Amino acid sequence: MKTIIINIQKLDAEGLKLLEVPAALIRKGETVVFPTETVYGLGANALDPEAVKKIFIAKGRPEDNPLIVHISEISEVDALVTHIPVKAKKLMDAFWPGPLTLIMEKSEIIPEVVSPGLKTVAVRFPSHEIARAFIKMAGCPLAAPSANLSGRPSPTEGKHVLEDLDGRAAAIILSSDGELGLESTVIDMTVDPPMVLRPGDVTLAELREVLGEVLVSANVTKNILPDKVRSPGMKYSHYSPKGEMVVVKGKPQEICEKIKHAVSHSHGKPMTIGILATDETMEFYKEGFIISLGSRNDPREMAKNLFSRLRTFDELGVEKIYAEDIPLNNETLALLNRLYKAAGYTFI
Ligand code: TXA
Ligand code: MG
Repeated sequence: MKTIIINIQKLDAEGLKLLEVPAALIRKGETVVFPTETVYGLGANALDPEAVKKIFIAKGRPEDNPLIVHISEISEVDALVTHIPVKAKKLMDAFWPGPLTLIMEKSEIIPEVVSPGLKTVAVRFPSHEIARAFIKMAGCPLAAPSANLSGRPSPTEGKHVLEDLDGRAAAIILSSDGELGLESTVIDMTVDPPMVLRPGDVTLAELREVLGEVLVSANVTKNILPDKVRSPGMKYSHYSPKGEMVVVKGKPQEICEKIKHAVSHSHGKPMTIGILATDETMEFYKEGFIISLGSRNDPREMAKNLFSRLRTFDELGVEKIYAEDIPLNNETLALLNRLYKAAGYTFI
């Protein structure tokens, strides 16, 4: 497939004009990659089952992994769900538009392929102005997973999208790269207390400030096998770099020593080894590809960098990655969730 590539830097009259072709492609039942404030998404008309099927084919995504439906105005949620729970309304008022996805009971207009076998649908109202304008112009809600090949790190930069999906989507809209870099927080509003299924930039503390009690799915923080019923997406290996990755646990000093020891025992091949360090610890290492995730004082910056750093290791041809563990708290939960998954929950 020949993919139309469109660059939009500003949403002025010219930028809006550039959205017309991809919006028409959506109406014709094709797939289009568009930017959001979290990661790029691969969108199709959520109400057209044939269009949605093309998303699964383009990504190589398992068919039972449900999709998030993206809207361009709060009022559009009404048609997608049977009812809006009071607590969901509170979260919409507090965090929409933004990186928060709400799971609610689905209405009859949601095709089976969007959330196969489930009574629910995940809805997100992104804040990225191009995303909103694009959905509005397309004139329908867009089902959109992250625009990576299934199992690869989510795309936070245009070049990642091109690597994975050039030739697999009808069009790709590139823009300035997303400000957040990790996918949205996903919360199940069909249970009470509501339960976070995927942590993101909207933190647990922020959710609790609005709702009071909020639970977190056990597999978010723990190294356990996923709960198949609640969030089908969690059972797949995710975000994986091509190299084998492990997370190194311990006190900061111990972590550095363990990694140094491993590199020095790499049988003379230190350049096949990547070290995912931080600004504060980089200088301790002498061998291997040493890359900083950012400063330990800025977990949001670290989160933003994670996926692109994993792809950098791939470009370098790194075969083994040692990632430093960082302390778990409200601000680092989302980052650690992705880091552990990328490592397939392998720790030393
Ligand atoms: O920030 C984001 O959320 C990005 C951008 C493009 O909006 N999208 C994204 O989509 O990350 P995706 O498909 O990569 O991840 C969606 C997650 C999956 O883990 C999926 O299993 C879960 O949300 N999910 C979707 N619908 C669900 C439902 N009805 N019930 C439970 N989990 C659901
Ligand atoms: Mg994804």
